[in-house]
Amino acid sequence: MGKLTLDRILQSQGFGSRKWCRELIEDGEVAVNGEAVTDYRKTPDTNGLKLTVFGEEWAYRERVYVALNKPANYECSRKPSHHPGVLTLLPEQFAWRDVQPVGRLDHDTTGLLLLSDDGAFIHAQSSPRRHVPKRYLATTHAPVTDELVAQLLAGVQLHDEPAPLHALSCLRRDERQVEIVLEQGKYHQVKRMLAAAGNHCDALRRVAIGGLELAALGLEEGEWCYLEQEHLALLGNA
Ligand code: URA
Repeated sequence: MGKLTLDRILQSQGFGSRKWCRELIEDGEVAVNGEAVTDYRKTPDTNGLKLTVFGEEWAYRERVYVALNKPANYECSRKPSHHPGVLTLLPEQFAWRDVQPVGRLDHDTTGLLLLSDDGAFIHAQSSPRRHVPKRYLATTHAPVTDELVAQLLAGVQLHDEPAPLHALSCLRRDERQVEIVLEQGKYHQVKRMLAAAGNHCDALRRVAIGGLELAALGLEEGEWCYLEQEHLALLGNA
């Protein structure tokens, strides 16, 4: 593939339409590796490229992989209806470059959510065949009993599932807190499994996906970070 012109590079990074990106460049709003460039036909090397747009620095990324510590009351759906979408928590360039959540968390579930504009990555991560374990911390309405833990480990029958679903692991963390690791990602799975076992989920937080721990990322609720190769390797996707 030939080298990309600067207007196309900006467009690929989510700075708007090609026409708009050309205007930004011609208006002197863009610098390449620290030097102002007003000719949109320039073809800078994208390797290690640093763009400055409206005074803000952006490293060129062919694809973006992001972890968000999702707060409650944000929706993962493409067309959110009752709450703002999770993309409103990220720079607007991400929506322009079609960054999407990898799978979904309920609007009231908090914690680790991955997002990307890499369709193959999203597909691979979401595939039911991949069996990436996901760890949740659930706050329960009634105390966590040994019987509840035993039931979740043995498997509970959800009414629209052909076979019982069981947790890969299940640990009582506190009087009303239980940590549950699931292999599948069925609709409302944790909440429905807790209900089927006779309890109720009052709050739910996803704390890890594969070997990627939310705590290790140091994100406050509502904060996000790029995922680098070493993070992706923890998901088994590098
Ligand atoms: N299980 C649920 O019930 N809700 C989520 O958001 C994720 C897993």
